[in-house]
Amino acid sequence: MDALASSFRALNAVAMGEAHAGLVIRGAALANVYTGEVQEGTDIAVAGSRVAYVGPDASRAIGPGTRVRRARGLFAVPGMADPHVHIDQLVMPREFAARAALRGVTSLFADPIDVVSVAGARGLGEFLRQCEGAAARVFSVVPGGLPVDRRFSTSRALTPAQEAAALRRDGVIGLGEVFSWTRVTSRDPATMRQLARMLGEGCVINGHTAGASGRKLQAYVASGILSCHEPVDYAQAIERLRLGMWVMAREGSIRRDLRAIVSEAVARGIDTSRLMFCSDGVNPVDMAAHGHIDHCVREAARAGMDPVRAYAVASRNAFDYYGMGRDLGGIGPGRLADIVLVDDLAAARARDVYVGGREVVRDRRLAAPVRARRPPAWAARTVRVGPAIRAGDFEVRARGGAEVNTISMATEIVTRMGSATLESRGGLLVSGGRTGVARAAAIDRSGRTGARAVAFVEGMGELEGAIASTWTFHENDLVVVGPDPAEMAVAARAAAAGGGGIAVSRGRRVAARLPMRFCGIASALPMAEAASRLEAIDAEMAAAGCRFGRAHLVPLFLPFLALPSVRLLHSGLVDVRARRRVPAVAHRLK
Ligand SMILES: [Fe+2]
Repeated sequence: MDALASSFRALNAVAMGEAHAGLVIRGAALANVYTGEVQEGTDIAVAGSRVAYVGPDASRAIGPGTRVRRARGLFAVPGMADPHVHIDQLVMPREFAARAALRGVTSLFADPIDVVSVAGARGLGEFLRQCEGAAARVFSVVPGGLPVDRRFSTSRALTPAQEAAALRRDGVIGLGEVFSWTRVTSRDPATMRQLARMLGEGCVINGHTAGASGRKLQAYVASGILSCHEPVDYAQAIERLRLGMWVMAREGSIRRDLRAIVSEAVARGIDTSRLMFCSDGVNPVDMAAHGHIDHCVREAARAGMDPVRAYAVASRNAFDYYGMGRDLGGIGPGRLADIVLVDDLAAARARDVYVGGREVVRDRRLAAPVRARRPPAWAARTVRVGPAIRAGDFEVRARGGAEVNTISMATEIVTRMGSATLESRGGLLVSGGRTGVARAAAIDRSGRTGARAVAFVEGMGELEGAIASTWTFHENDLVVVGPDPAEMAVAARAAAAGGGGIAVSRGRRVAARLPMRFCGIASALPMAEAASRLEAIDAEMAAAGCRFGRAHLVPLFLPFLALPSVRLLHSGLVDVRARRRVPAVAHRLK
């Protein structure tokens, strides 16, 4: 980020009308997020990367070299921010940043937990390299959620020394979501040391307080963690706001909680200066269908929030939270010139977008194509299983049938412990067809152990196709779900091929595939192509009998130890609340 210290004299001179600006935006209606006003007929003079003057007449700043953008009839709003987003997954960071910029989102606060869980410090370094030169600003945090559970996790994580080194890098500004709030409330020694280091460095720490309340929440906040993006309703949001926390109303591909929080906050006249909008990740399909933080502004306006205030929530508040309010968050003298021109405030459709005074979007198109940066060869070799996977890998022996513990799927994400009785054929348990029971397997894809676990799944529907994915939270597993071993083997081999991805098989043929060559978690494809492939994956699974509309989430969340109630890792089934292992086969029948 260009420092104000190097440019304030030049800005001062332009503001005084004693030097010329590089760019003047003339006659826009300014959404002033500092006062809540709309100021008609506002000129904005930009010198270098920063705004020098905002007022009724910048004509003295216009010289022969000044680019003038006539903006009468348009609104000027500050570039929006996503204060918590994962951009190391599905598509490459620069591709994501470009699509976000097209939506008027000029700053992304990335939590690269996926790439770190796969590839550790080397993964973080490559992620940061991939973000350089992106169309939007990218700030990053050091992932705070790894390992998800020390007893069971096998993900990579950063050592304290690697964390410290990362925080010295440009644009790395704090600690990412600390998933396990119980590690904070129980004063887990390693977590306490990590928090102490971060607080000592003056870093922002992003919170994650799903379900916490009362004393436990207060203890969490008292430990220096001042934000949360997990409130799902107004009651949870207001409890946090009352404690001086910053609340990110989440509206993304995993959850959509904004309406419930904002409509009530508006109706009750609550101060929203500590409210933000975040996506927590938005997939290519949703980006095309709904948008990003621009969608949050529309949703907030529909929920009754004044649009100028919605832009303050979408920009100013996020930068204030991260301690960047002097540089970003509004359009004012001395601020970095991250400016979006929109036709209509509540519609929030970006026409032109400037980042640091540089035009990145003109007339709803990127000013420059996305330049792909070739990842190093190692990033395509993180999936170390694949061709050797056979149907036999998913068989479970039990000569007379068995009582099995099942993962009962309430949604693509929510699981409960269940049970079923399975028959045996040729000494092997039978699933699929009318049993209503599918099976799931997790295979250590890192190649370190070669371990795999097979368990049984209910509630998916009468599946006739299998899905497999190398993009799974956050244990380095290749996860495959299907009706029978042969179908699963086809999907698993296809997912693992070429460095990783998501694949669906039907009739023992590959029906849909999204390659994810970058660490098995992100595709080099343009976002539109990734969107159509992701849609095809979900559509093929629906056609194969899956009762869930977003089947790709099933393998993603099956190993996710931050959620109850039962999860599957390559080391076996885990009862998350009881923190104990559960056998897939409860007992074999005679
Ligand atoms: Fe997150």
